[in-house]
Amino acid sequence: MLNQLQKQIENRSCTLAILGLGYVGLPLAITFVNAGYRIIGYDINPEYLNQMRNGISKILDISSQELKDALATGRFSLTSVPSDLEGADVHIICVPTPLSKSRQPDMSYIESALATLLTVWGPGKMAILESTTYPGTTQELLLPTLSRNGLKLDEDFLLAFSPERVDPGNHKFPLHRIPKVVGGSSKASTQAAAALYGAAFEQVHTVSSPTAAELAKLLENTFRNVNIALVNEFAQICDSLKADVWEVIEAAGTKPFGFMPFFPGPGIGGHCIPLDPQYLVYKSRLHGYEPRLVALADQINVERPRYVVQQAMDILNTQGKAINGARVLVLGVTYKPDVPDPRESPALPILEFLAEKGADTHYIDPWIPSIRLKNGDEMLSARDLKEEAAEADLIIILTAHQNFDYELISKYGKKLLDTRNAVSTSLRQQPN
Ligand SMILES: NC(=O)c1ccc[n+]([C@@H]2O[C@H](COP(=O)([O-])OP(=O)(O)OC[C@H]3O[C@@H](n4cnc5c(N)ncnc54)[C@H](O)[C@@H]3O)[C@@H](O)[C@H]2O)c1
Repeated sequence: MLNQLQKQIENRSCTLAILGLGYVGLPLAITFVNAGYRIIGYDINPEYLNQMRNGISKILDISSQELKDALATGRFSLTSVPSDLEGADVHIICVPTPLSKSRQPDMSYIESALATLLTVWGPGKMAILESTTYPGTTQELLLPTLSRNGLKLDEDFLLAFSPERVDPGNHKFPLHRIPKVVGGSSKASTQAAAALYGAAFEQVHTVSSPTAAELAKLLENTFRNVNIALVNEFAQICDSLKADVWEVIEAAGTKPFGFMPFFPGPGIGGHCIPLDPQYLVYKSRLHGYEPRLVALADQINVERPRYVVQQAMDILNTQGKAINGARVLVLGVTYKPDVPDPRESPALPILEFLAEKGADTHYIDPWIPSIRLKNGDEMLSARDLKEEAAEADLIIILTAHQNFDYELISKYGKKLLDTRNAVSTSLRQQPN
């Protein structure tokens, strides 16, 4: 039966189910449709599915036209009905893995996707987990769950982990060009999963176990987290020395080997980089090792928004103004430029701290028309940069969106806190 599955994967006659159609699942579904497979897209959000059925994509990397084209092939169906997954041979799980309030792994989405999968699970199938998670999840959670009712790995089913590496908004690397790491729970599982991804992706790199693949993903994102913390700390050192950290990074970046530039900012955001290292910390602690560097990096990055508010108070102070009652204009609230995603953005705590201090805060973000703060308050994006900038006592650039008018903003140098060095970078890039 599993030999048949391997053949169906190779000749692209098998049906894939993708559970969770967000930033990761939808691009993956379209990539497999383009490779000739039949896809059942399953998501628990029926409204979102209806939007997609009407040809509207809210995922930045998938245009509405690409979505319509995929649906028009007749090989891509959308459902929130678990029994529709019956016909799928391979189930790929792409659901969120956030942290709980106490910054512990929140496995509830994976558990709920597994509960759905169990309703249609049986001999001859393969499951693949793509969600970022703690090392051991595939072997310790998925394997026993899928082995229920006497089903056996390799005799009845296959299982693998393959981390997602999508970088939303990065047009240089479309999904199929990003090498795919694959680690199966058995040799046959690795082989089948590698054949599947090999049909749609340019390069597949296999490792000896799902745990190695889970760890590879955590190493990639912890590497970014720790280096961002290093440069954030370095920026604070430069501030205390009245040196320009951007000039220093540019100079260090001329070294052709052994250095990779990272850039400071108001904090760290997105669904991955701030959260994923905590999955590593959690598992490491269970095994008796207390990670120090990873925990310290998290602390430095988490403290950054408060430092930005302190800088804001210092600038206002030089103008003889208190933050209480000052009109503050925040530019950009997404976690990175030119994406419609405010998840874990440092703008959120910064807006909250500014409100706590009594600032009259406004924001402009062309990607985010409104934003809800933790205290429940909703803020609406202002539109007129010229008017808002003229009225503000302080302008803080938090996200360097391409379409901000940096020439206009540069005129407000004395009341500008540019946490991204966006103004000088943009003005330098302008043709003479
Ligand atoms: N966004 C990224 O850039 C990125 C990059 C690499 C890895 N990842 C990882 O991929 C995973 C998914 O992240 P995302 O950004 O796509 O999340 P997302 O929030 O954009 O999408 C998740 C989707 O899953 C759906 N969902 C939730 N529970 C479900 C369930 N039980 N069954 C079916 N669908 C369910 C939601 O409705 C949503 O549409 C996470 O583990 C994340 O860490 C994300």
